[in-house]
Amino acid sequence: MSSDKSVVVAAVNQVLEEIPLPGTPTNIVKSGVIQRVIVQQGEVTIVVQFPAGLTTQQGSISEQIEERVRAIDGIEKVTLLHRSEAPAKPQDPAAGAPGPGASVVGVQDIPGVTHVIAVASGKGGVGKSTVAVNLALALLARGMKTGLLDADVYGPSTPKMLGTEDARPRATEKETILPIEVHGLKTMSIGYMLEDDSPVIWRGPMVTGLLRQFLFQVEWGQLDYLVLDLPPGTGDAQLTLVQSISLAGGVIVTTPQDVALLDVQRGIQMFQRTSVPILGVLENMSGFECASCGQITEIFRGGGGEDAAKRYQVPFLGKIPLEPSTALSGDSGQPVMLTQPGGALGSVMTSACEKIVELVSAR
Ligand SMILES: Nc1ncnc2c1ncn2[C@@H]1O[C@H](COP(=O)(O)OP(=O)(O)OP(=O)(O)O)[C@@H](O)[C@H]1O
Ligand SMILES: [Mg+2]
Repeated sequence: MSSDKSVVVAAVNQVLEEIPLPGTPTNIVKSGVIQRVIVQQGEVTIVVQFPAGLTTQQGSISEQIEERVRAIDGIEKVTLLHRSEAPAKPQDPAAGAPGPGASVVGVQDIPGVTHVIAVASGKGGVGKSTVAVNLALALLARGMKTGLLDADVYGPSTPKMLGTEDARPRATEKETILPIEVHGLKTMSIGYMLEDDSPVIWRGPMVTGLLRQFLFQVEWGQLDYLVLDLPPGTGDAQLTLVQSISLAGGVIVTTPQDVALLDVQRGIQMFQRTSVPILGVLENMSGFECASCGQITEIFRGGGGEDAAKRYQVPFLGKIPLEPSTALSGDSGQPVMLTQPGGALGSVMTSACEKIVELVSAR
């Protein structure tokens, strides 16, 4: 196989053109079911959007796509990304009327912010904040104007991870809030407003109100990307947040155990309920790399995140190993993406960021 991406894309298109679209005289390429083909080394991601009413045949068409593309010489992995109807964007957000196919009321854009992506996990402590901070920095390194909103009001971690614990945001005359800028990243977190680490007790409506303020009353300015570090879990608080804003996509962070399958499933369901496209699954704490010999020791049984991505037909964005430097960076305020961009986490984040940008711009 030629390494030239366009040659591979042409080969993929050619085999896809042989797959008819049931009930029509045309094939899945000409009819627009195939929206985009993205090639990265031996990996192909295909964005598909089926017409409404074709629900029963979707499975068999998807299988045919995977089978035929995988049969192309040199292609090792095929991921189908099912694009759903775009969430409603009412002209007047206050009116809140959802458009056809949308299950969301009152979805709103943030003025000046082009893409908002949410980082979620089925449960706590899997490295969601580590991924959110480093993904935001990877986007920045790629030349994107980027912001990071720590939406975890119960356990804010952005200030500690970025070394900005002593920063205090200022209000403007318009009663908006100025974000804290660090390493070129615009950030906001409830952690900037708390005097100590004592736990905060928030009731549901207060959380919703606070997060709306963080989204819509912070002077984010012109941003290409705003990364949301969601609170752990996929309950009502997360759903409310995901529903209130027009998201370009969601990233799900998980660990490699077998139970990851369930966690990823919950994450996928949360995004699907609100018609948010799933940009992929990232597996964190995936084996331990020995500092002296470089050998990877699997700590958990392994592969759960990757298996889950395959099973639910969403892109797999990579495996981040457990590393002492990553653990230390979480406390030192110096994220690994800045100190060791070429290290294990850095290289996974860079390629995941590349894939995310491609998928988002494909929409
Ligand atoms: N790949 C890794 N290697 C080593 N340590 C890691 C790795 N990923 C995360 N950690 C560490 O694990 C801890 C939990 O990570 P993090 O805070 O990012 O998780 P979280 O999912 O955001 O947690 P929470 O549910 O509390 O918000 C942190 O101390 C972090 O530094
Ligand atoms: Mg966190």
